[in-house]
Amino acid sequence: MFSQRVFLVTGGNRGIGFEIVKKLAVSHPNDLILLGSRDQTRGEDALVQLGSPSNVKVVQVDTSSTASIEQVRQEIENKYNGHLDVLINNAGIAPNGKSSRELKDIFNTNFYGVRHMNDTMASILRDNGRIVNVSSEAALLSITHCSSDLKARFLNPNLTETELVELFEPLFKAVEEGKDPDTVGFDPIEYPGLRDAYLVYYAASKLGVTVLSRLEARDWDKNYSTKNVIISSVCPGFCSTDLNNKAEGARPPELGADSILHCVYTENLENGQFWRDGKKLSLEMDEQRS
Ligand SMILES: NC(=O)c1ccc[n+]([C@@H]2O[C@H](COP(=O)([O-])OP(=O)(O)OC[C@H]3O[C@@H](n4cnc5c(N)ncnc54)[C@H](OP(=O)(O)O)[C@@H]3O)[C@@H](O)[C@H]2O)c1
Repeated sequence: MFSQRVFLVTGGNRGIGFEIVKKLAVSHPNDLILLGSRDQTRGEDALVQLGSPSNVKVVQVDTSSTASIEQVRQEIENKYNGHLDVLINNAGIAPNGKSSRELKDIFNTNFYGVRHMNDTMASILRDNGRIVNVSSEAALLSITHCSSDLKARFLNPNLTETELVELFEPLFKAVEEGKDPDTVGFDPIEYPGLRDAYLVYYAASKLGVTVLSRLEARDWDKNYSTKNVIISSVCPGFCSTDLNNKAEGARPPELGADSILHCVYTENLENGQFWRDGKKLSLEMDEQRS
């Protein structure tokens, strides 16, 4: 059995993901940190920026592609100890457009990508492993801008993953047909500081990630033989990165990395919860929105 622990961070080549890899590289000199990048060259450039530490390796993974996810699993099996201990699903996008192409792109990376990563990596995740799904407080905006019927369905404690995926199907159909999302229960969202951003799709994808994390935590032991896996969703806080064109007043991405790493390091972390800066957030409590 290899004692060396293996960490994988998707979207590790810039922004918050890069800061996570940087911190892990320093804190885990004897472990292996896999810097996931959808573009190999951008990943190699990021490695150089880190000073090419020997405990960090670049792996190419596009989380919107099931083939790419399967390929990285095989690469870990064949080249990198054959196991994972910590998976940080950080890769994410937030384009502003309203077309059905943008809706599909956002969901492919932010939601389906996370689900495929977790399903695919389950077979190589070791006992006591951790999965951190990077979400956003936009998930809270989404649930508070949903119809009451949709909200009740998202919060149904007996919801299955298949049913969760189905809850977004009317949104895809409506947008495909040129209708507004509010015709199927996803109301417009405004967020101070992001006046020009179109947030409905992004927020819905992050609501999906947070609900998915609860379901994965609830069902993990039923679906997989790995023991004591803790699955969390986490908001890194509003951080100045390319995602928001380095928004004025946003905090440094290092703090976003700390918010995420809280879910890696905290002992006895409550499974399936949604966190920011070590504090639990709840989809059920509207007043937490900031
Ligand atoms: N910044 C914030 O205020 C904020 C707030 C809440 C949540 N978040 C979440 O935090 C995470 C990181 O965001 P960030 O602000 O660091 O964004 P960022 O600076 O734009 O970086 C995004 C990273 O994700 C990668 N990526 C995008 N699509 C990918 C795909 N299909 N496959 C693999 N990698 C992909 C990008 O790779 P390329 O370089 O190849 O494009 C890049 O490395 C995201 O999930 C985001 O939704 C951010």
